[in-house]
Amino acid sequence: MEDKIRVLLTEEEVNKRISEVAEQISRDYEGKSLHLICVLKGGVFFTCELAKRLTVPVSLDFMSVSSYGDDTKSSGVVRIVKDLDEPLAGKEVLIVEDIIDSGRTLSYLIEVLKQRGPKSIHLCTLLDKPERRVKKQVKVDYTCFTIPDEFVVGYGLDYAQKYRNLPFIGVVEQQ
Ligand code: PRP
Ligand code: MN
Ligand code: MG
Repeated sequence: MEDKIRVLLTEEEVNKRISEVAEQISRDYEGKSLHLICVLKGGVFFTCELAKRLTVPVSLDFMSVSSYGDDTKSSGVVRIVKDLDEPLAGKEVLIVEDIIDSGRTLSYLIEVLKQRGPKSIHLCTLLDKPERRVKKQVKVDYTCFTIPDEFVVGYGLDYAQKYRNLPFIGVVEQQ
């Protein structure tokens, strides 16, 4: 059976907002180079769209930290599925995520990456669901949209690995 998906944020709204945040980041990092860390798999679409709009020099690396598996609820277990290829020493690091929900993924990731000696480490997310936060210490530096507690898909976000390729943010409606 097909899921019913309601549009929460249109492609135009998302792209416009990413451009605004990219401008702000480019201003904040003027004169520096940025090392973007894309958190796979969800962060991949946002990372590309953001990176294309940045006007400072950018390098990219990828990491996969999974906490959900194929379930819609967090298992609470975070594990590294794929580590970075490059060292972080001396780099201006910006972690790029699709969504911050409980904050478990990011609180774990930040702790791990801090120990690798980056010059700075900041966090950028497409979506933030503050109502669901368990790890209150996670500080988000750049947020495109703050959203209510609904199960969202598209723009990298999946429901049992489906719908990542939707060009907008949608809500999976309960049948
Ligand atoms: C999702 C999402 C974030 C994380 C947010 O990833 O992409 O990385 O969960 O949840 P949290 O704040 O409660 O930790 P998921 O583990 O589903 O892997 P995926 O990116 O491969 O879909
Ligand atoms: Mn993810
Ligand atoms: Mg997922």
